Amino acid sequence: MRPFVLSSPLVVLDHPVAGDADRVFEYCQDPIFERFLTVPWPYYREHADGFLNEYVPSGWMSDREYTWALRDTPGAELLGVIGLRLTGDSVAADASVHRLGSIGFWLGTPHRGRGLMPEAQRLVADWAFSSGIIDVLQWECLLGNVASARAAWKSGFRFSGVRSSVALYRDGSYPDSWQGHLAAGDDRAPQPGWPAEALAP
Ligand SMILES: CC(C)(COP(=O)(O)OP(=O)(O)OC[C@H]1O[C@@H](n2cnc3c(N)ncnc32)[C@H](O)[C@@H]1OP(=O)(O)O)[C@@H](O)C(=O)NCCC(=O)NCCS
Repeated sequence: MRPFVLSSPLVVLDHPVAGDADRVFEYCQDPIFERFLTVPWPYYREHADGFLNEYVPSGWMSDREYTWALRDTPGAELLGVIGLRLTGDSVAADASVHRLGSIGFWLGTPHRGRGLMPEAQRLVADWAFSSGIIDVLQWECLLGNVASARAAWKSGFRFSGVRSSVALYRDGSYPDSWQGHLAAGDDRAPQPGWPAEALAP
């Protein structure tokens, strides 16, 4: 698929480009990324270049993972990143087949606390469901990542439980993670059933 733009009055999601490398490199120095993300650590400038020049374009081209840059206006400075990975079909107990995707995201430190990520998740989910490319969106974060859990909760994800992560972490393990899901027909309001420790500052 060719990259395309999603937008609302609050945030623009457009194509991450080579010129975003300074911001990606800068933001990925946040020690929170070492603790909670699967990005390489230490994070070097060549990691940012490889992400923008190889990983992102090949994800779009192969329809494996669609990655957008969050910006205030088209082409403005990169604020963060959101990606939708297509993870395949699953067959439910009632034999219905679901097309699954998983969402991942981060914001540069100065751009947190503005409500950008729940809005970006809404844009990506609306497109992914309305295009029919997936009908269930999955989210996970490592235990203790309250900011990520709150962003998913605010976007209407239902809590699925604590399970081994789907994502492989840089130490080769699949640590315990909070997991959630959002289905095409779901209400997008915050849902009950989340553990207090995932939402409590
Ligand atoms: C996850 C993330 C994108 C959310 O961004 P955001 O929507 O702007 O949200 P904030 O960072 O402002 O935090 C969201 C909420 O969590 C709270 N929070 C943030 N850090 C927290 C912490 N360490 N402990 C407890 N609560 C925390 C905030 O107070 C905020 O509360 P509110 O919902 O009442 O406003 C952003 O925090 C981030 O980029 N984190 C690092 C990368 C990351 O973990 N990505 C997700 C990987 S699964």
